[in-house]
Amino acid sequence: MSELDQYYDLVIELVKQGGQLIRENINRQKTILTKSSEVDLVTETDQMVEKLLMNGISAKFPDHKFIGEENTAESNRRVELTDAPTWIIDPVDGTMNFVHAMPHTCISIALYVNKVAEIGIVYNPVIEQFFTARKGKGAFLNGQRIRVSDEKALSKALVMMEMGTSRDPEKVRVVMENLRAIVPLVHGTRALGSCALNMCMVAMGASDLMFEFGIHIWDIAAGDLIVREAGGVCIDPAGGDFDALSRRVLCAASSELAHQATQVLVQYYPDRD
Ligand code: IPD
Repeated sequence: MSELDQYYDLVIELVKQGGQLIRENINRQKTILTKSSEVDLVTETDQMVEKLLMNGISAKFPDHKFIGEENTAESNRRVELTDAPTWIIDPVDGTMNFVHAMPHTCISIALYVNKVAEIGIVYNPVIEQFFTARKGKGAFLNGQRIRVSDEKALSKALVMMEMGTSRDPEKVRVVMENLRAIVPLVHGTRALGSCALNMCMVAMGASDLMFEFGIHIWDIAAGDLIVREAGGVCIDPAGGDFDALSRRVLCAASSELAHQATQVLVQYYPDRD
């Protein structure tokens, strides 16, 4: 069994345990704190799931590093991505949905080695959607291989886009302008309220395109690998290479579709992670 196989087997077990915590707590009373804005929320479940994943991995692989959403927020440190095996964790992506008991919420976890994504897992334990990918080995939903839609035309695309959790007026203006620009050109727009799940919708062919500005590495690291292993593309929304620390993402069922979208989007450049 390779080292990566061992990491993968362990993280699958830990993610299942974390999912159990989300399932148990989603319909209970929660303690809610705010972070960067009044709508950027954290609950005790976010913290519990992150600790469970980090402690479980550290116990077996003490030299592995972590970039965790809640740990980064608490320590007020900048993200540091090195060549060491690094787990990038969003313990509850779609925290706003979790707070409202809306069933689109998930754990997102990726493993980077030498700054390359090797493992990506997105698990929605409420409606049992377990997305997995390993570099070069394809993407799966509940064990079944998935593939993007292959759609090439923007006019036929179902597009995932989000308001996000920043209330910076410039960011809000760009989101509204993009909504105005995109809606007349496409089949429709949708927002699940979880960046990672939005990306997985593209991976499974349920949506054709997704973009967002202002997300963080923990929202997109797993989704990026899952989309690419499902045959899709992840790029920068202005057309350059995907940069996990740029807080910008666009993924699509085909490169033709991705590049059409870059032509119409108004760009926004948040501070990097
Ligand atoms: C948020 C969700 C949301 C997206 C925000 C993210 P969180 O993550 O992915 O869909 O629009 O930009 O911050 O805070 O629920 O982990």
